[in-house]
Amino acid sequence: MAGGRGFPRHSESRYSRPTITTGQATGMLDPFGRKVTYLRVSVTDRCDLRCVYCMAEEMRFLPKADLLSLEELERLCAAFVGLGVRKIRLTGGEPLVRRGLMTLIGNLGALVRAGDLDELTLTTNATQLARHAEGLAEAGVRRINVSLDSLDPERFRAITRRGDLGKVVEGIEAARDAGLAVKINAVALKGLNDDEIERLVEWCGQGGYDLTFIETMPMGDIDGDRTAHYMPLTEVRARIERRFTLTDSDHRTGGPARYADVAETGRRVGFITPMTHNFCESCNRVRITCTGTLYMCLGRDDAADLRAPLRSGLGDQALREAILSAIARKPKGHDFIIDRTHDRPAVARHMSVTGG
Ligand code: 5AD
Ligand code: SF4
Repeated sequence: MAGGRGFPRHSESRYSRPTITTGQATGMLDPFGRKVTYLRVSVTDRCDLRCVYCMAEEMRFLPKADLLSLEELERLCAAFVGLGVRKIRLTGGEPLVRRGLMTLIGNLGALVRAGDLDELTLTTNATQLARHAEGLAEAGVRRINVSLDSLDPERFRAITRRGDLGKVVEGIEAARDAGLAVKINAVALKGLNDDEIERLVEWCGQGGYDLTFIETMPMGDIDGDRTAHYMPLTEVRARIERRFTLTDSDHRTGGPARYADVAETGRRVGFITPMTHNFCESCNRVRITCTGTLYMCLGRDDAADLRAPLRSGLGDQALREAILSAIARKPKGHDFIIDRTHDRPAVARHMSVTGG
């Protein structure tokens, strides 16, 4: 849909350029002196899968009318770039289910080409990636993250409650063939995929993909018990080290993962440990939802509404002020706890609201 409700439609020629000029980036520092340079944008809360650790079987999604239009999302991104953001990741839900997304990607790609942004990237479940891989590469996307927790078709279907592994693998291969660097993200799930850890390392080595394991986080109701499947990554690493030689690496991709080189495959394996190690000290990121709510921390409820200043007609200065006053409240960190005495999620919203 071009132009959201109550928002002026842009002509095609207008929408082919960023909707605001970014100007000279000023930089954003939070109260703890951390520089905010990484923006994650959830373009939709919808997804064609229902991963057991992420969603409930029956999800109530936002009414489409509540979503920011693609133009509004673009204007928001440009405002953040004007304030010093150097990396944007589009997430969901599943970003590729949002209609018109490739236009937004093309326009944000222009910011990369102009040197205003270092990186535009995407986290996807790859169900529709085969169709979009070439277009992403053309738009200037160089790396993508693909969520994949099992290489067994039946198990993949069980974990995602409906997914087709064949399609996902086809999407991953199409991305690689289009020249995109692919990183696989696997959530470590005791009793669900812990016996596939070594196989994932091997498969990614053969395919030429990096691989990152993630600890499951207590976000949103899921119709089940997360505690039962929680697995600290110390265990994952120990398992990998029984078969492979790991050497810690200084490699960073601007996110929270810590990497090790795998001697036998020549690839890297990363560990995202929100539960066992607090990754907050070096946090450089904030997240916006598809309705324009800014979350300053993944594990906290405090948020700022950017949709009102975006639609106020007061121009970009009001938007910038709203962003800066929110960054001034960025908390020091989260304190996720996952055990049987904490049977409620730490935050009520699902990961699909903020995209991880
Ligand atoms: N804990 C950890 N990771 C999660 N993801 C979704 N929900 C959770 C959760 N509760 C992962 C997805 C995807 C990334 C965006 O976050 O598998 O890789
Ligand atoms: Fe969809 Fe990703 Fe959540 Fe799975 S983890 S249901 S693919 S948003």
